Amino acid sequence: MSSIPPLRLGVNVDHVATLRNARDGASPDPVRAALLAIEAGADGITAHLREDRRHIRDEDMARLKAEISKPLNFEMAATADMLRISLATRPHAVCLVPERREELTTEGGLDVIGQREALAPFIARLNDAGIRVSLFIAADPVQIEMAAKLKAPVIELHTGAWCDAISDAHDSKAELEWNRIVEGAKLAKAAGLEVHAGHGLDYKTAQTIAALPQIVELNIGYFMMGEALFVGLAQTVRDMRAAMDRGRKTLQAYL
Ligand code: PXP
Repeated sequence: MSSIPPLRLGVNVDHVATLRNARDGASPDPVRAALLAIEAGADGITAHLREDRRHIRDEDMARLKAEISKPLNFEMAATADMLRISLATRPHAVCLVPERREELTTEGGLDVIGQREALAPFIARLNDAGIRVSLFIAADPVQIEMAAKLKAPVIELHTGAWCDAISDAHDSKAELEWNRIVEGAKLAKAAGLEVHAGHGLDYKTAQTIAALPQIVELNIGYFMMGEALFVGLAQTVRDMRAAMDRGRKTLQAYL
């Protein structure tokens, strides 16, 4: 058997900024959280600059880029303003996410079919700038095929519906969503895409999804920041890493 592909952990620091903005001061600082997460074993940092700047702000993105030693994954909507900021920031990666209803599929990912004409030049600009583009999409075969046609090198599979079904103990829905993710990851890899996953993951779901050999990166935020209140961020990163490593050891089942 070939060796086990590594699984990277991208820590999303958006909600450190959510907390900071509640009092509109400088603390807690998302850059400090990013540095601590990296020290504790994160392979990269993810932050979402929303159009309404509800958590991460422009200066946070600039500071993250300047101060962290690991790859920065800049999540954003596909707008002209965001394109300008991302080209100026030059992160390692950009993940295009939906922010408005018309950009969304019913499963919650970016509608790359409906948006294909707007996305094609956008992806090309980022590719030309040497920024790795990822499209945050549902594990829907037609969306995955379109992502490959649009020449995005990476997709991030939206795990929200699966995670919600698990936390609601809705077993048949959880199984359906899980099977979609398994098949979607296989299809995407076969189409030449690098496959990431994220949204709503916790220790249990991260351990489960770590068993899929096609997936090479998980981006996780909200759960980890909540856990960090109780055990600290460094411990949370180490516990998440351990959960992913346990899951990765069981990946033979999906090879
Ligand atoms: N990946 C993408 C593309 C996202 O938009 C988000 C949420 O900002 C995440 C991962 C992380 O999701 P969560 O905060 O639920 O772990």
